[in-house]
Amino acid sequence: PTKLRVSEAFLDAQVGEKVRIQGWVRSFRPQKQNLFLHVNDGSSLKSLQVIAPAAMNDPLLGFGCAVEVRGILKKSPHSKQPVELEAEQIWVIGECNPVDFPFKIKERHSLEYIRQFLHLRCRTNAFSSLLRIRSEATAAVHSYFKNNGFLLVHTPTITSNDCEGAGELFQVEPPGTTFANEGSFFSVPVYLTVSGQLHLEVMSGAFPRVYTFGPTFRAENSQSRRHLAEFFMVEAEISFTESIEDLTKVWKTAASDFTIISAYIFLSPLHLKDTLDDMLRKSFPVITYTEAIDILKRSSETFTFPTDWGCDLMTEHEKFLVKHCGNIPVFVTDYPHDLKPFYARDNQDHPKHTAAAVDLLVPGVGELSGGSLREERLDLLRSRLGECGLEDTYSWYLDLRRFGSVPHGGFGLGFERYLQCILGVDNIKDVIPFPRFSHSCLL
Ligand code: 4AD
Ligand code: MG
Repeated sequence: PTKLRVSEAFLDAQVGEKVRIQGWVRSFRPQKQNLFLHVNDGSSLKSLQVIAPAAMNDPLLGFGCAVEVRGILKKSPHSKQPVELEAEQIWVIGECNPVDFPFKIKERHSLEYIRQFLHLRCRTNAFSSLLRIRSEATAAVHSYFKNNGFLLVHTPTITSNDCEGAGELFQVEPPGTTFANEGSFFSVPVYLTVSGQLHLEVMSGAFPRVYTFGPTFRAENSQSRRHLAEFFMVEAEISFTESIEDLTKVWKTAASDFTIISAYIFLSPLHLKDTLDDMLRKSFPVITYTEAIDILKRSSETFTFPTDWGCDLMTEHEKFLVKHCGNIPVFVTDYPHDLKPFYARDNQDHPKHTAAAVDLLVPGVGELSGGSLREERLDLLRSRLGECGLEDTYSWYLDLRRFGSVPHGGFGLGFERYLQCILGVDNIKDVIPFPRFSHSCLL
């Protein structure tokens, strides 16, 4: 018999034919005359109802076990499902002890509960849906960039640069090495990448539109709902651009293109899709950091952290600003120069000392993405690196400005935060297959 993926069974084409399916039992109901089970094989959220004579029951058959079923695919007499499989043979491929199995039949477990079983949680409907959406969203990201003329660059995971200079690096060495430079593997201190930006900037000297999408690492000692030690970042770099508006345009089109996947939303209440469509139809407000600080200072809200010009925006401030702007994504531009890394372009003509940097804040999450124009003027960049004591480290970066330099800029978007936002998932640990955070690296 033809092997069917369960999702194909619902396409009607095979009705009346002898087929076989392989998957896992998601519900199990032995009755006097007949045995009913639902089998899911990960191809979609749908499970196929299997009906078999009671005599076919096997003591090993039950919720969670792996099976192969052969039989005839029929139109179902019940309105609940269009088709069902009339079994001729059922094999238990892998049994599943219901007492020890942490997920129970007919129970709707919370994401928090299933998170305790990282090695088993893909067997739940909720998490397997999430993984399918994540996979679709990944494809949508690549397709957006391909369709818009971007070159994919595989930036390295191991690097000697600390792009963000925020002291959140994981140092890498083989076991047993002393961290002194001689005798270390690379002869220089190396780290897991915190951002592929500088490597993208190298490439943007020959390709006007480049992007990367890969794992990124931050030793952030935070137990928050939006921080991971390993997360995936989408980063883009665009040459021949002189304004923040050019960057925000890319973001806006990308945002709607990425969300073709909103059709797959299962986890969230249905209205979320409408909220999302609604949100994307509106134009995202753009405010300056200085305006943001004014808004925060004028508000009657009490914040834990101070809100003076020069202070960084904290999550509580970001969430407030999003609400203030009508609960839609909002761009905040022109942050104080001192808050931004060495590469951010100095807004010399502004009355206050700011940089041409922009963050995108979104409902439920706060900062989803951050970007800037990069300092392309050799003398300004050199003096900035000098102030930071980085002139020697970044002589190669200065070279980029020496040979055929052009105005350019880019951004990085946290892929997990993006999924949190479109799916309304509260905790970032629930949108990544294997979350890594401080004091936790299971598996
Ligand atoms: O704002 P960040 O630090 O910007 C950069 O790294 C730039 N070099 C990117 C660029 O311009 N190419 O990080 C970018 C985004 C943040 O806005 C956030 O969404 C996400 O990465 N992010 C994290 N996501 C999960 N866990 C963490 N610990 C994160 N740190 C940053
Ligand atoms: Mg940032």
